[in-house]
Amino acid sequence: MDKQIEFIAARIKGLNHEVMRILEHDNVIDNGCCKELDISEEALEQLFIHIGDFLIYQDDIRKNDLIRFVEGFGPKLIHSRVPLDQLIDFVYLTRFSILNLFEAELQNEPISVRCYHHVMKIIETVYQIITRKLLEMYNDEMSFIKDALAESNENLKMTLRELADFERALNEATIFAITDHEDRILYANENLCDLYKYAIDELIGEKHEMFSSRFHPPSFFHNVWQTIESGEVWKGEILNQAKDGTKYWLDTTIIPFVDGNGKRYKHISIQYDITEKRNTEETLRKMEKLGMIGELAAGIAHEIRNPLTTIRGFVQLMNEKQIASQYGDTILDEIDRINFIVSEFMILAKPHEIQFSDCHLTSILRSVIKFLEPEALLRNVNIEYEFPSEEVYISGEKNQLKQVFLNLIKNSIEAMPSGGKITVVVEKSDTMISITIKDEGVGMETEQVQKLGEPFFTTKQNGNGLGLMVSYKIIQNHKGTIQVSSELNEGTTFHISFKNPVRNKVKA
Ligand SMILES: Nc1ncnc2c1ncn2[C@@H]1O[C@H](COP(=O)(O)OP(=O)(O)OP(=O)(O)O)[C@@H](O)[C@H]1O
Ligand SMILES: [Mg+2]
Repeated sequence: MDKQIEFIAARIKGLNHEVMRILEHDNVIDNGCCKELDISEEALEQLFIHIGDFLIYQDDIRKNDLIRFVEGFGPKLIHSRVPLDQLIDFVYLTRFSILNLFEAELQNEPISVRCYHHVMKIIETVYQIITRKLLEMYNDEMSFIKDALAESNENLKMTLRELADFERALNEATIFAITDHEDRILYANENLCDLYKYAIDELIGEKHEMFSSRFHPPSFFHNVWQTIESGEVWKGEILNQAKDGTKYWLDTTIIPFVDGNGKRYKHISIQYDITEKRNTEETLRKMEKLGMIGELAAGIAHEIRNPLTTIRGFVQLMNEKQIASQYGDTILDEIDRINFIVSEFMILAKPHEIQFSDCHLTSILRSVIKFLEPEALLRNVNIEYEFPSEEVYISGEKNQLKQVFLNLIKNSIEAMPSGGKITVVVEKSDTMISITIKDEGVGMETEQVQKLGEPFFTTKQNGNGLGLMVSYKIIQNHKGTIQVSSELNEGTTFHISFKNPVRNKVKA
């Protein structure tokens, strides 16, 4: 019988051609490979060799070899796209071909019936091993897929829950609408209906522009469309109107939804009602303006009181000493200054062109120093100056320049309560003219320096904090620059420079 079994085993080992032929006939073969099952002819050959070997030796080694082989090619079968029944069909096709072989051989009588039964039993065992292994692997795979599916289902549920949360948050916190590419409303939330006082049915299909208050010019909306048309988010404040005519300021964000070709197919607008905030801001602005005017009035009074005090002093002196007009020019100068300051503030209210002329810089400075000297002496302050021998001219407005130097030197005097020295230096190069005013006063901290020029910034009990603001403005109008360097308890230096107008002529 052994010889017969060996004969059968040898025939089985060659069955792969037969099976391939059937598969080819059924048109499931492509390029020597079973198309959907992804089994090569070589693998099929191996299968029959393992079955044949097991038939001959019937031991555990061959059984394990067979199991290992099935474990090797099993996953390929399972991962191919065929359903389980087709997979089993394929396995049974191989079994069927072995059975066919027996039938044929039995008829030709080279094997005995006993041998046939014996072989059949072994073949049944082999196929039990194969199908059990395959089913085991299939089950494992299925339970893995089931777990993965359950997990992704859970993730999906979470995402949906999150989405619902987002939607709720958006609905509760904002006024929002979704519109199509033509700006027709597709969806509007309850807050939007409440604010604009429309029922949802009245809104769907209508254009968003129905809320327009006609406050914004067409160019405003042109800009909005241009922005979202280019796929960008537009942010801004819009004044819209409800059905009953009530107007609302809305902080608005419009987000375009763009398709794969970059075309806008929808957009969502998210709004917040900021009417209340805008009203409060407006009231605050008005109050601020009123406050400014009050402070400004105080500033004017202050600037005017200074020359008035001087005039009063001089007039008193003239009366007491019965001197005629030694101080007349100074008094007239001061009266002019009062006039000027008043008109300056008129100018602030209604700006006008300032007439520039050639100004003799050093004489302006000399007259300011002369004017401030009495006050300086009173405070033990010495004013020194270094001017170039030749005249220095700049193009400007004499009284305004005078005001700048007066403010700066006055500040320096005030910064030296126990006296000291102020140095005023004028320098001239081909391109620049600079004026340096240096004192040995209390100096300033960095934060203080940063605030200089801000209206009403003062550290003085009777100061208005307008002197530097006005001075900075004047220098700016004269296209000059002003810089400060200051060291606490060491002193302060103001450095003003103007472009040299390059003039050699002597002023009349
Ligand atoms: N040379 C300086 N040394 C130290 N501190 C200065 C000097 N110049 C200006 N400051 C500081 O800058 C502040 C603002 O000066 P500003 O001239 O603008 O106003 P003010 O002198 O306080 O008041 P006003 O000039 O209107 O009478 C001053 O209060 C002072 O603290
Ligand atoms: Mg001042």
